[in-house]
Amino acid sequence: MAGIKITGYGCAHGDRTVTNEELARVVDSSDAWIRSRTGIESRYFADNRSNLDMACEAAEMAFQRWGGDRGAVDLLLVCTFTPDLATPSVACGAAGRLGLSQKVMCLDINGACSGFVYGCTLAHAMLTAGDARCALVIGSEKISPLMDLTERGSAILFGDGAGAVVLEADGTKEFASYSDCIPESETLFCERFDPAIMMKGQEVYRFAVNAVPESIYGVLRRAGRRVEDVDWFICHQANLRILRSVAGKLDVGMEHFYVNIQRYGNTSAASVAICLSEMLEKGLLKPGQRVIITGFGAGLTCGSILLTV
Ligand code: UT7
Repeated sequence: MAGIKITGYGCAHGDRTVTNEELARVVDSSDAWIRSRTGIESRYFADNRSNLDMACEAAEMAFQRWGGDRGAVDLLLVCTFTPDLATPSVACGAAGRLGLSQKVMCLDINGACSGFVYGCTLAHAMLTAGDARCALVIGSEKISPLMDLTERGSAILFGDGAGAVVLEADGTKEFASYSDCIPESETLFCERFDPAIMMKGQEVYRFAVNAVPESIYGVLRRAGRRVEDVDWFICHQANLRILRSVAGKLDVGMEHFYVNIQRYGNTSAASVAICLSEMLEKGLLKPGQRVIITGFGAGLTCGSILLTV
């Protein structure tokens, strides 16, 4: 299937670094437990920054790396389950602050931790159909205000951040996507008016270690590719043990998995976008390489995209 190219990338994060030690002063946990059970060493909390602030910082960096005319952006998707307001959307706020054209279609997508992957799937559909020419897809989350620090399962897990990509259609690139879910699951949920995240961690964990390899095999089947054809697996950073288990099930070495959970914790829809941005900035993604990005989380949702750099 005709694909898309990433022409710009950027990321941002909360303004305060919170180490495991600091967190363990307020929640009944320890640095040793958090490191060994999740791989997380620290995360960022956005005490003085909104979701919109982080989304716009990531987007400004993406525009800088891109070097194109931002007036050409005609699709803006902000993937988030933690918008600053119920309405208007973070995307509308970002379109204004970034000075985008009045012709831009902008909306938020709540696909939880699969949000960015779903957002890129939708952007691909519009770009290749000719309904959009240039898309800005942002994953941005401010989760810290939604954490109940007495609930240690989730309190140690999440962080705040944003990642952004500029996407354009490119007929020379490969693209395939695959999505599935377990509908109406309440193993991970957050109420609107008493918004503390509640998570049955073990159930989400069991879902993830099965759903992620299935999703990766699903997208490989659709693309007519094999595991060996893939250079990088960029999975939602929820727990290092989940990533190791997925690597084991695929029989792939961890050197093919990008990991930055140690510095960010779990940033939900932002995590894959931040990974992509960091990898492109470090020159880890080379032209022609095949990459699978996978998101999974609340819903329960899961989705993968295979693309070429
Ligand atoms: O991004 C959205 C998707 N989210 C995820 O993918 C999260 C998936 N789940 C997980 O990452 C893990 O389930 C957690 C990190 C949330 C929890 O790790 P776990 O290894 O599944 O821990 P557990 O719930 O099985 O608990 C094991 C033990 C229990 O103690 P006992 O009963 O064995 O004495 C818990 O009470 O660890 C205890 N425990 C903790 N101890 C210290 C649970 N959380 C903590 C904690 N600090 N934060």
